[in-house]
Amino acid sequence: MGATLMTTMAASGVTAKPGSTKKTPFGKTPDGEAVDLYTLTNKSGVEAAITNYGGSVVSLKVPDRDGKLGDVVLGFDSVDGYVNNTSYLGALIGRYGNRIGHAEFKLDGKTYTLAKNNGENTLHGGTKGFNKAVWTAKEIPAKDGQALELTYLSKDGEEGFPGNLHVRVIYTLTDENALKIDYFATTDKDTVVNLTNHSYFNLAGPASGDILGHIMMIEADKFTPVDSGLIPTGELRDVAGTPFDFRKPTEVGARINSDDEQIKLGGGYDHNFVLRRKPGEAVSLAARVTEPKTGRVMEVWTTQPGVQFYTGNFLDGSLHGKSGISYTKRSAFCLETQHFPDSPNKPKFPSTELKPGERYHTTTIYKFSTEK
Ligand code: GLA
Repeated sequence: MGATLMTTMAASGVTAKPGSTKKTPFGKTPDGEAVDLYTLTNKSGVEAAITNYGGSVVSLKVPDRDGKLGDVVLGFDSVDGYVNNTSYLGALIGRYGNRIGHAEFKLDGKTYTLAKNNGENTLHGGTKGFNKAVWTAKEIPAKDGQALELTYLSKDGEEGFPGNLHVRVIYTLTDENALKIDYFATTDKDTVVNLTNHSYFNLAGPASGDILGHIMMIEADKFTPVDSGLIPTGELRDVAGTPFDFRKPTEVGARINSDDEQIKLGGGYDHNFVLRRKPGEAVSLAARVTEPKTGRVMEVWTTQPGVQFYTGNFLDGSLHGKSGISYTKRSAFCLETQHFPDSPNKPKFPSTELKPGERYHTTTIYKFSTEK
């Protein structure tokens, strides 16, 4: 039997029923457009709140080892925070996640020029990426939990990218305590696409200090080293013998200040890892993170070839999030599943091209559990 979908315009603060979705007003954009917050609650009370502004995950409440629910993502209390947000908290990222070098790329012999919104480069889609778009939201039925569909039309030429891109993202909060994200896109002209989600996690809770004590495992034998603008050099480098070797679970902070050229360039971790995909597997394990104090565990499963591990190095305490919490350096980490940065300019990297008639579909699952 399908889960019951409920839409109520109830004032925020009303406790959601297990196995339901609740819609509440989340404020207005500077253009006066009203946006909403959709709170998905699964059968055991786990809760994901998502706004259609930027498709941002606003809060995610999962149990600790004692069964106590706690928020594990950074976010803001209303849309204003997201409008002013330059750190992409929780947002859907597009048309191209992470950087494109020199803010240009060639496709079918033509050069496309993009906005330089990160030094000489383009970051996360340009000046007004998908994180600043108001998406059309619709609650849809799901066999395995609560689902929200978000759609957005990125017009031909938007931020310099060719082709009308119809994007559809489905967030499903499953009854197995996973937040599953399906990304779909089609185009009417050859283009490049790289969609991801930029949630910042702190499994001990957003007010609990830095994430250096989290234990990280990343299923990657190689990573993509970068230059001073954080653009991949094109090399796939072995993680063995470097601070990037997370094949065995290791504390995030163990090597984050080491005297390593790549660590210094990133100001910590801000690198794409080349995932060890298992042939024949629909989704493969990308990373497993455990937080010793609370016992919370997060696994990331994906169809994507890479993941950007970012340790919140640019957070500097100036952003004030939910309940006024100041988001300080390294108070959260991101695991952004993706194609490699600057792929449009790196012919040897897996291609990010999408052509008319093709269907882009990727899946990423953030799965929560606990251990003793
Ligand atoms: C990504 C980038 C980082 C930084 C953050 C947002 O993770 O790789 O360099 O831009 O997004 O601040």
